[in-house]
Amino acid sequence: MAAVTSTSPEMTYRMGVRLGQLLQPGDFVGLVGELGAGKTHFVRGVAEGAGVPSDVVASPTYSIVTTYPGRIPLHHADLYRLEDHDELYATGFFDLLDGEGAVLVEWLDKVPSAAPREYLRITLSPVDEVTRELEVEPVGERAAALAAAWLAG
Ligand SMILES: Nc1ncnc2c1ncn2[C@@H]1O[C@H](COP(=O)(O)OP(=O)(O)OP(=O)(O)O)[C@@H](O)[C@H]1O
Ligand SMILES: [Mg+2]
Repeated sequence: MAAVTSTSPEMTYRMGVRLGQLLQPGDFVGLVGELGAGKTHFVRGVAEGAGVPSDVVASPTYSIVTTYPGRIPLHHADLYRLEDHDELYATGFFDLLDGEGAVLVEWLDKVPSAAPREYLRITLSPVDEVTRELEVEPVGERAAALAAAWLAG
């Protein structure tokens, strides 16, 4: 586990870009943090890093999951409005986990069972208006390697 401090929205975005460059099919990133913590901002950076044209990235506010075409497909889910596992299951979300793409999930703590056995968990905590602490918790070997490469970059 590691903690990184971001001192600006731009820094969080750039951290996302670097992670996006490293993502491989099957990777799963779970994002946790209160409203306005910076989850979507980070995801926009990830999308750029994964080669997603910036104009196709929209927050999946009114759908649970959106797929962006990039170097690999990027599935972006937001579980904020979900009640439980059954509701998530009904969206077809779990079909994505065996697929070709990488998955980014905001509000993973709303439905913790959304996460596969191995994944990278990132918790964003506001420190002040422009500062966020990012707590990085890899679960499993691939996530550990991904986190190490990311934090070394
Ligand atoms: N260091 C920082 N990193 C990320 N965002 C920051 C930072 N400092 C300030 N911000 C601001 O915080 C806000 C984060 O908004 P964002 O939509 O990314 O949050 P969120 O976690 O996705 O919230 P929600 O749960 O409502 O979806 C933006 O307005 C951004 O400019
Ligand atoms: Mg968001």
